[in-house]
Amino acid sequence: MIAYGFSEYGGPETEYLLDVPMPEPGAGQILVAVHVAGVNPADWKVRAGNRKDTVPITLPAVLGREVSGTVVETGSGVDEFTVGDEVFGATASGHGGYAQYTVLNASSSAHKPDSVSWSAAATLPVAAGTAYDVLRGLALVSGSTLLVLGAGGGVGSSVLQLARAKGIEVLAVAGAGKQEWVEYLGAEFVAAGPQYIDSISRPVHGIVDLVGGETLRAAAEKTGAPVVSVADPVQATQWGGSGAHRDRTTAAFTHLAELVATGVLSPRIDHVFPLERAGEALALVEDGHTLGKVVVQVR
Ligand SMILES: NC(=O)c1ccc[n+]([C@@H]2O[C@H](COP(=O)([O-])OP(=O)(O)OC[C@H]3O[C@@H](n4cnc5c(N)ncnc54)[C@H](OP(=O)(O)O)[C@@H]3O)[C@@H](O)[C@H]2O)c1
Repeated sequence: MIAYGFSEYGGPETEYLLDVPMPEPGAGQILVAVHVAGVNPADWKVRAGNRKDTVPITLPAVLGREVSGTVVETGSGVDEFTVGDEVFGATASGHGGYAQYTVLNASSSAHKPDSVSWSAAATLPVAAGTAYDVLRGLALVSGSTLLVLGAGGGVGSSVLQLARAKGIEVLAVAGAGKQEWVEYLGAEFVAAGPQYIDSISRPVHGIVDLVGGETLRAAAEKTGAPVVSVADPVQATQWGGSGAHRDRTTAAFTHLAELVATGVLSPRIDHVFPLERAGEALALVEDGHTLGKVVVQVR
């Protein structure tokens, strides 16, 4: 089968189209004909070797951590999915999503409702799932104020939608090009920049950080609010906070799909690339300034 991956740890020059054997599902796994693969910053971080300790791979490796697709084979012990089911989920360890076929753990897969598009479903396991989990971690109540650093990206856009649906006020720190978008999502725009913190004067009850570094330091120091950071979890712990505690279960993904089906969550997909151009898709995400999600459409 055709896939897109990398031959060694490094920059984009290590990426290429691969012709690799069809993967086989093990016990508790499903083989999926990929319709759409989500593209995330984690993909280039794995390629760059930044995740060597947590994401084991065999080279050459296929890129991508999340897909939607149709089940074509089930491994032993899988009762909840059958051939022909339309599903989405997180790829199993050692498997990638930018491919004609991939393997998912049944326990990290969910049925795709008819009303949820292939593209939307493919973006739920990583960005929307992370947004859901960080908000759950903060457990803010209606009427409280949430500060989101890096609010206009994939995770941030979902955080804004989920928080507003719960009646939480949101201060959204984002680049000027994303002002219209975050305001459309019901947040109050705060212009990103070295002095952004000076324009925040009201009490903040929680921080979701998607940027890290000095941006996080300024917010944590000034507000003293509980922080969850997926960009800089080490610094978050220094402020008494944490990284994300991810829930990649069928139940969690089923709930996310229901939120999309009921209109609470609406993934914005701005860039769709064919598999042959997956490198361009990842380069857009690696640049760090996309508005809306980037996906690879395989079929
Ligand atoms: N641990 C996990 O489970 C997990 C899961 C998902 C994501 N993550 C991490 O979370 C981070 C965000 O992911 P994502 O998918 O949302 O990425 P993304 O779609 O690329 O969005 C990143 C956003 O950060 C903004 N940004 C960058 N520098 C900024 C600054 N100084 N001030 C304000 N905004 C700034 C960018 O906006 P501008 O264009 O306006 O700069 C962009 O909208 C990444 O580091 C990713 O690896 C971790």
